[in-house]
Amino acid sequence: MKDFVQTVNSTMKKEKNKIKPFTFKIDIVNKTLSNPDSHIVRKLSSMKGQYLDETSYDEMIKKEDTVLYEVYEKLVPEMEGELIQGLSIVHPGKVGKEYFMTKGHFHSVLETAELYFCLKGHGYMMMETPEGDWSAEELLPYTASYVPGRWAHRSINVGNEDLLMLFVYPAHAGHNYATIETKGFRKLIIEDNGNPKIIDNPKWK
Ligand code: F6R
Ligand code: MN
Repeated sequence: MKDFVQTVNSTMKKEKNKIKPFTFKIDIVNKTLSNPDSHIVRKLSSMKGQYLDETSYDEMIKKEDTVLYEVYEKLVPEMEGELIQGLSIVHPGKVGKEYFMTKGHFHSVLETAELYFCLKGHGYMMMETPEGDWSAEELLPYTASYVPGRWAHRSINVGNEDLLMLFVYPAHAGHNYATIETKGFRKLIIEDNGNPKIIDNPKWK
């Protein structure tokens, strides 16, 4: 099976007038949310062409279509004024020297921002704008990383354990994956003598 997106709680059809205040618990031991509305599981096969070392990618995928990351969300009406929130879990590992990472995306409504709060693990938030600015913000437990509007973002796990983050973003933001799938990010993070190192992406278009 390729990636899957499971809508867990379909009874909560998200109409503006149906939404009620709610509280949820994040379980960092079992790595889940209480009553998630969706669970996304992304595997190696959904990242074709994204990793620099294509030989290592091909060798790995021949053995197993490894799960790279998972996302649990609490869904709300996808309209301005509401906020979607959830838990992202990027597993530890590498393809060649490059750490496991999310696909990364711009928001379809480009000017919408996002907040990530790191609960566990060690990572980087890699970001870039269509104008050519880039930034890699380090993520450690209890650090918050702000992704401003216009900035594409990708989470990268540079540690040896799961990278757990709470995220919150405007419910009308939408996701544009196509630009990153085609162009890649300008910068990559690889392991160099046991440490993360930011390098130029030679395949960036
Ligand atoms: C939502 C958001 C996160 C990501 C998650 C997985 O706007 O940025 O919830 O969706 O970190 O990454 P992608 O969506 O790039 O596969
Ligand atoms: Mn986002």
